[in-house]
Amino acid sequence: MSQENESELSGTPHRRPAPSPTSIGNHKIKPATLMMGYGFDPALSEGSLKPPVFLTSTFVFENAAAGKRFFEGVTGKRPGGAEGLIYSRFNGPNQEILEDRLSVWEEADDALAFSSGMAAIATLLLTFVQPGDVVVHSGPLYAATETLIAKILGRFECPTSTSPPVRRVRRSTRLSPAPGTSAESR
Ligand SMILES: Cc1ncc(COP(=O)(O)O)c(C=O)c1O
Repeated sequence: MSQENESELSGTPHRRPAPSPTSIGNHKIKPATLMMGYGFDPALSEGSLKPPVFLTSTFVFENAAAGKRFFEGVTGKRPGGAEGLIYSRFNGPNQEILEDRLSVWEEADDALAFSSGMAAIATLLLTFVQPGDVVVHSGPLYAATETLIAKILGRFECPTSTSPPVRRVRRSTRLSPAPGTSAESR
């Protein structure tokens, strides 16, 4: 069954906010102005001019099939990511608006918001570091970050090495030889 058909059958296509304009005529709207309203659609919030604060912990699905589809998207069982609002641990209107605006502000493809600095740092490291990798970083780091890298990741065979920031790239290249090259040939 195609995703489109299933979406139609479950009767709950994702109600996305209407696209926010980023220009008026030939005039490109500045990021500072876009921060006022970008990513928010009053029609999805009873006409409220500004985004209401959503304290909701979980969202209602129109039927079980929609809930299944949304969960599969957000947990990676189905490509394409979250198709709808699910549960505040995954997504929510305020979080999505913040992330959309951060990506505009930073001129980034996308942005993620976390509830704490360590949540962001731990998620980044757990996403990209594999057993056997060497984490090369400048020092000193925030103490909890150093603890996470040395004591927690260290338990999973990810040894650490510190180096001044300027030498970091050169050093990490040396520590991670390209497949098929040997240390002697370099
Ligand atoms: C450089 C740096 N990294 C990480 C953190 C941790 O942030 P949080 O306390 O929000 O987890 C802090 C907090 O001050 C910090 O200054």
